[in-house]
Amino acid sequence: MKHLPILDACALSIFMQSAVDARGIVKVYEGKVRALAGVDLQVGSENVFALLGPNGSGKTTLMRILTTQMPPTEGRALVMGHDTVRGGAGIRRIVGYVPQEMSVWTDITGYENMLIYAKIYGIPCESRRRLINEALDGIGLSEVADKLVRSYSGGMIRRLEIASALLISPKILFLDEPTIGLDPMARKVVWEKLSSFKREFGTTVFFNTHYMDEADLYADEIGIISRGRIIRTGTVAELKRSVGGDVLLLELEPGGIGSPLLERLRAVESVKGVALGESELRVIADDAETALPGVMRLLDGSGILVRKVSMSAPTLDDVFLKYAGTRLESNSRIADIAKVRQTIRRG
Ligand SMILES: Nc1ncnc2c1ncn2[C@@H]1O[C@H](COP(=O)(O)OP(=O)(O)OP(=O)(O)O)[C@@H](O)[C@H]1O
Ligand SMILES: [Mg+2]
Repeated sequence: MKHLPILDACALSIFMQSAVDARGIVKVYEGKVRALAGVDLQVGSENVFALLGPNGSGKTTLMRILTTQMPPTEGRALVMGHDTVRGGAGIRRIVGYVPQEMSVWTDITGYENMLIYAKIYGIPCESRRRLINEALDGIGLSEVADKLVRSYSGGMIRRLEIASALLISPKILFLDEPTIGLDPMARKVVWEKLSSFKREFGTTVFFNTHYMDEADLYADEIGIISRGRIIRTGTVAELKRSVGGDVLLLELEPGGIGSPLLERLRAVESVKGVALGESELRVIADDAETALPGVMRLLDGSGILVRKVSMSAPTLDDVFLKYAGTRLESNSRIADIAKVRQTIRRG
């Protein structure tokens, strides 16, 4: 038997630890839309990984490539050691995928939906009932299994979609915006079920999200994606620490700040980022004492009244602001997606 050189064996063991290993992934749609512009990403096995990014940044595109639904234009990705192009069949046997769009039928029962998926996945006849019941039980839907899905709440529908993806006991579970549009209680239940599944089976979880609090609470590691590139990865604590400097919070009288003023604020000495909320302005600065007089002068000169100034600990919002240059949360977009899911549910 031929032995691997020591270096290759080490390289192999590092490589084996990655659940996802993407190098230089580019995706160009229709020869013109550059959705991914060179994604490099490694996700550790058995981690919960959150991909955070604004609308149109390429999250779904990357997930579709990793789940073998389409090839990249350039680059190469391995999922659990399988190449997404040449080893697609191997990946599909071990991957669970819950798409952003609705993936269940509303005019049949939860159990019947699961039965369809069990057949699609090729689960043998004799084990279907047991596996479906276990999955429904695990996700807390046993009691409504025989009810029409159209009578389910949004959270129950999402849990049914997750249960169908869990039927094959995946080694890695991809969730595209798993709790978009759900109320806080329903989001919590979804995550409790996912966390207990992960604890029991050690599954790697890779999810796309707009919700920073969700990434903050449930992810071991976060990747920030902006305009088709991963601009930063790390644990929540690492990312927050990396913001460095100071975060100034200025409470303002509502209204009055337009884009030109924001641009001028960004140019103030020591300022690294500026974000405007409903009645507050967050300013990330290398040094608050240097930045504050310039910021106050500009606001004063524009007739904007500052009610209160305080310092704040960096949040993931600040992390995003620092690396992507914009704020992440886009409530109108979240409302849009939630509405689409609602419409499909009714239809
Ligand atoms: N099938 C397609 N054909 C052409 N362009 C596409 C296609 N799918 C996505 N795009 C474009 O590629 C870019 C990335 O889209 P993608 O859906 O991957 O982003 P996203 O981060 O998932 O966005 P969202 O937060 O809205 O779900 C966008 O500019 C989008 O319009
Ligand atoms: Mg998407």
